[in-house]
Amino acid sequence: MGKKKLIRFAENKSFDCLIELDAKDLLQQPHELKGSWAKSYFKNSREIVLELGCGRGEYILGLSRLYPDKNFMGLDIKGSRLYFGAKEVHEANIDNAAFIRSKIDFIDRIFETEVDEIWLTFPDPFSGKPSRRLTSPFFLNRYLKILKKNGIVSLKTDDFELFSFSRWIARENGLRIIKECENLYGQESISAEENIKTTYEARFLAEGKNIHLLKFVLDREIKPLK
Ligand SMILES: C[S@@+](CC[C@H](N)C(=O)[O-])C[C@H]1O[C@@H](n2cnc3c(N)ncnc32)[C@H](O)[C@@H]1O
Repeated sequence: MGKKKLIRFAENKSFDCLIELDAKDLLQQPHELKGSWAKSYFKNSREIVLELGCGRGEYILGLSRLYPDKNFMGLDIKGSRLYFGAKEVHEANIDNAAFIRSKIDFIDRIFETEVDEIWLTFPDPFSGKPSRRLTSPFFLNRYLKILKKNGIVSLKTDDFELFSFSRWIARENGLRIIKECENLYGQESISAEENIKTTYEARFLAEGKNIHLLKFVLDREIKPLK
């Protein structure tokens, strides 16, 4: 492993805002704060917005600055990426954002009907493997367990196949689509929230790609793929 990564991993341990979870522990028993993150971690009763696969945490940081009255959590498996977001939260004393190092697969061992919105920013598209996509029925049914009633799922992607697959799943299951946009920056106006750019988004924009946005209410079990 590179020296830089080792230094980041060591520094990660000093950040209170970065909770590193072990798969084995989670499999043995759910996280002790499951169901009470707002009350026990953030010490309030505000909304929780969770980003899955947050990478360096730019979306979480941007949102936490726009909405100081909400709690923001970013989850990713890669400590070397989370380092950047956690360092910023630590150094800027941001009190409404935190990060979790874990696999997305364990979210229902970490949270329980307490998340108001889930953001997926530029997840791997898994072309040819729809069942592995973060908007597949398998994952959406997991999100249903951790979202509050009428919770929201928001997806930003450069991949049109992933965007149209996710929109198709939402339509097929009768979910209420709040927003669907095939070319985010082609709109007449863009909200500050939609305008936050992650590392991957900046890269895709530089390549001249269109950015797609989908936002829907996840309020029911999703039918499996045929
Ligand atoms: C394409 S990157 C996008 C990162 C960030 N959202 C952005 O827009 O810059 C996908 C991220 O998802 C994370 N990821 C992929 N599969 C994961 C899993 N099963 N559990 C946790 N994180 C995962 C990767 O580590 C990576 O940081």
